[in-house]
Amino acid sequence: MLRRLHPEQPDSFAFTPANQAWADAQVAKYPEGRQASAIIPLLWRAQEQHGWLTRAAIEHVAAMLDMAYIRALEVATFYFMFQLQPVGSVAHFQICGTTPCMLCGSEELVKVCREKIAKQPHKLSDDGKFSWEEVECLGACSNAPMAQIGKDYYEDLDAESFAKLIDDMAAGKVPTPGSQKGRFASEPLGGATTLTDYTGESANGSVALAAGLGDTLKRIDGTEVPLVAPWRDHPRADGQPMGGGDVAELVKPADKPSKKSKDTPKAKDAPSDKSPQTKTEAPKAKKSKSATPEPAKAVPVDAPTEAGEQKPEMLTQARGTPDDLKKIKGVGPKLEGTLNELGVWHFWQIASWTAAEIAWVDTRLKFKGRIERDGWIDQAKTLAEGGETEFSSRS
Ligand code: FES
Repeated sequence: MLRRLHPEQPDSFAFTPANQAWADAQVAKYPEGRQASAIIPLLWRAQEQHGWLTRAAIEHVAAMLDMAYIRALEVATFYFMFQLQPVGSVAHFQICGTTPCMLCGSEELVKVCREKIAKQPHKLSDDGKFSWEEVECLGACSNAPMAQIGKDYYEDLDAESFAKLIDDMAAGKVPTPGSQKGRFASEPLGGATTLTDYTGESANGSVALAAGLGDTLKRIDGTEVPLVAPWRDHPRADGQPMGGGDVAELVKPADKPSKKSKDTPKAKDAPSDKSPQTKTEAPKAKKSKSATPEPAKAVPVDAPTEAGEQKPEMLTQARGTPDDLKKIKGVGPKLEGTLNELGVWHFWQIASWTAAEIAWVDTRLKFKGRIERDGWIDQAKTLAEGGETEFSSRS
């Protein structure tokens, strides 16, 4: 099966504020320079929020992680768990068709899908509420046949109970996941013969949780459960603190210098043979829309670079409140931090770059050529004049 982006795409994508805080917390799990490791959970959250993975969402996540778009696209198109086309607004049914489920009647479930939803997989029902596909083993074979709907498993299905599930969902009801034949887990259908202490409960842990949260068919906006990120309370391997573990902390302006930056010599004291990246006092950029950190002092004007070049004067000029450089298409939080470290805080700076300055900055970016490729200069000119670009107007 060819996995390609759908021909019809929405113009933009943005995480909800709570999902953005959640995504920022995931990125913080990884050491500096390894943020791309967060791509799968971020793409998944984007899909949970929107229902399917759009081109704009893939680009948004790539920009957040400072990845080339093609790398993010490779991940999105490789894993079948990512839906690259619109799915039903209420539910997308994934019917397991592997041997145990097939022997227990999954072909009957597929027949129900063809009759009630659409003749072909990945097509929307006439009312747009449902879609379906056949998938490989989902690991619930002992309760075959089964279907995954959203993120929940519905087990011990047959044609009748499955058709009723669809009808109930179409009527606005939210069915309870788990066994549709009353099994607690995967004990014998006639009842448990061991571990009977546990099977007296009305629902096992995951079913009870899904029912309790009430998010069975919901598009996830990040408000379902409180955000906790305990890893942010522990120092990273490089000694840098990660910050607090709750949402308020995650969206707090980066106004406090990190332990490392406190220990770092001030720019005026810094030895002059270091590169700008290692000499800056700028706190590591970890900004959200609500965060407007004061820029730290830049490296000395006359500091030579590693290659003995002079740092462009434009990068050392006085500045006030920094601009949100993430409004430039291709600049995510990570890359914005890199630019800040280089002394770039404003649209006007980028708008006025000369060819030599572009080359100077370009050699310090991980993916060379992106300034030209993404049209930073033109975007920055528009933004510096108070205008909006197609990209900036999306957020
Ligand atoms: S064969 Fe269907 S869940 Fe394993």
